[in-house]
Amino acid sequence: MAIVVFGSINIDLVTYSQTLPRPGETLHGKSYAIGLGGKGCNQAAAVAALNGDVRLVGRIGTDDFGRTATALLRENSVPTKHITVDNTTNTGLAVIGVDGDGQNCITVIGGANMAINEQDVHSNQSLFEKAELLLLQMEIPLSAAMQAADLVRSAGGRVIFDPAPAPKDGLPAEVLERIDIITPNETETELLTGIYPSDETEAARAAQILLDKGVQVVLVKMGARGVCYCSRDKNLYIPPFQVTPIDTVAAGDCFNGGLAYALSKGREIEDAVRFASACGALSTTKAGASSSTPTLDEVESFLKASS
Ligand code: RIB
Repeated sequence: MAIVVFGSINIDLVTYSQTLPRPGETLHGKSYAIGLGGKGCNQAAAVAALNGDVRLVGRIGTDDFGRTATALLRENSVPTKHITVDNTTNTGLAVIGVDGDGQNCITVIGGANMAINEQDVHSNQSLFEKAELLLLQMEIPLSAAMQAADLVRSAGGRVIFDPAPAPKDGLPAEVLERIDIITPNETETELLTGIYPSDETEAARAAQILLDKGVQVVLVKMGARGVCYCSRDKNLYIPPFQVTPIDTVAAGDCFNGGLAYALSKGREIEDAVRFASACGALSTTKAGASSSTPTLDEVESFLKASS
């Protein structure tokens, strides 16, 4: 088994408006969409769109949103066998506003995602033990995510951790030392280290704090400013791709899915980060979350045209 994602599944309610409302403001939007989301689900959909070998472990409720999510997962070629239907709570929901520049803000109601527990880890133990790469995010309880990380790493696999949404009080060393590759964006980097990655030097300084706490590789995702790769023996800067974004929702998830796919195909890390950046950039040119994941053909043509 190449790639296992253990994470959230949401239905996204997305509004598109020129500006985002301020507190107390009501404004007219342009349109809305209902789609499949959740950082875990988007990462799995990103791998599936690339024709990668992926499984998603997660939870949904017995509500209509759960049935919609299952149907959309199948449409996105993500296997649903390892998804538990929980009759005690609702399917996860995200309310998302996207402005005229494609920037977004998101409120997530975790629902079934936050009911994930050690049972989900135990019932999928053999899957985790067979994983070459495990993709984790922070929309499910951290304790269950870490139990899965332990199973994967004990069997020789690697863990890619997206610290999103980042906790305000950072992450303890007991968590960071169980992560092979961490992929914070700018605000997550600041929340985890106290340093805003305003340029490559600051990104490397922030990354060093995470390396000192036990992470093997830090990829600081700086959006339109590119990615900084930092490990104990080298730092690299991977420049951004130029695109005109219409919707940045799930760009980070597509980056992580693309990274896992590229590593599973044996690409060297610098090449894998470039591939992942292309996936993230292309996703911003399409609307939606799981629906914005680029195909392998699209990524390869884009990389060729950009070289
Ligand atoms: O990263 C984007 C995702 O964050 C959305 O799909 C939404 O569901 C939230 O989880």
